Amino acid sequence: MKLRTVIVIGATSGIGRAVVERLASEGVRVGIAGRREDRLLELQQRFGAELISYRVMDVTKPSATEALDELLAEVGAPDALLYASGIGKQNPALDEDIELRTIETNSVGMVRIVDHFINYAKRETAYNKKHKAHIAVITSVAGTKGIGQAPAYSATKSMQSAYLVALSQYARMERVPITVGDIRPGFVATDILNPEKRYPMIMTVERAAKFVTKSLRHHKRITIFDWRYKLLVCFWRMIPRCIWERITIVQN
Ligand SMILES: NC(=O)c1ccc[n+]([C@@H]2O[C@H](COP(=O)([O-])OP(=O)(O)OC[C@H]3O[C@@H](n4cnc5c(N)ncnc54)[C@H](OP(=O)(O)O)[C@@H]3O)[C@@H](O)[C@H]2O)c1
Repeated sequence: MKLRTVIVIGATSGIGRAVVERLASEGVRVGIAGRREDRLLELQQRFGAELISYRVMDVTKPSATEALDELLAEVGAPDALLYASGIGKQNPALDEDIELRTIETNSVGMVRIVDHFINYAKRETAYNKKHKAHIAVITSVAGTKGIGQAPAYSATKSMQSAYLVALSQYARMERVPITVGDIRPGFVATDILNPEKRYPMIMTVERAAKFVTKSLRHHKRITIFDWRYKLLVCFWRMIPRCIWERITIVQN
């Protein structure tokens, strides 16, 4: 499907930013948000105000929905909304602040933005059976099982995936003209990773953006990338809990 307008939340770095660059260079109008205004402005200056509109937004704050409303009013009913905001840290010390901040951003923030957008889609006459709004969240393969080195990160990713299934069923029940996508990358070279460490099977952010834009275009329900991670997830799922609990994941 052709994308004309897309909203990207979490557009200031990493996968979200690379998706914006890819879409804008193809002439797609993009509404972008994140906390770092200098980076939002830089994208707007690079691609022009006809293609890029932005709002400063902190998804952990209730005011995020006002910023989203303003963005929607400026760009019009988008073909897709991508929630790419997220934080994640290994937390071997079980620092409570890290755990709670992760939940605020990945879980509470996602619900705030995605639910607000769905309620907008219910009212918006531009959407119908033939033209559905696509909502996608960048979750992670880390949501496949609870991970002892990053409890809140893995749990919030699992919660995101379960929530998206629920929303998909909700949309059918309530006849809301939306489709819902769960995008699960493996390791991608972005700021979320520790620059001093080495990660297996790591992908470039440009490659990740290619998978994500394709997923948006085709309203894909689940996208796991790349194929090596698809295999890994299959094996991962087969490990029984009694064995999984005994596995020591090496801190990287
Ligand atoms: N990189 C990987 O290996 C990998 C693998 C699987 C899944 N993911 C997921 O991909 C998503 C994007 O991460 P990334 O790898 O691209 O990392 P990143 O470069 O650190 O990007 C994170 C984005 O989230 C935004 N963000 C964080 N807190 C926010 C807040 N309170 N309000 C609004 N925006 C906020 C950041 O913008 P501001 O700081 O400007 O607000 C930034 O644009 C995350 O959900 C991550 O879990 C990444």
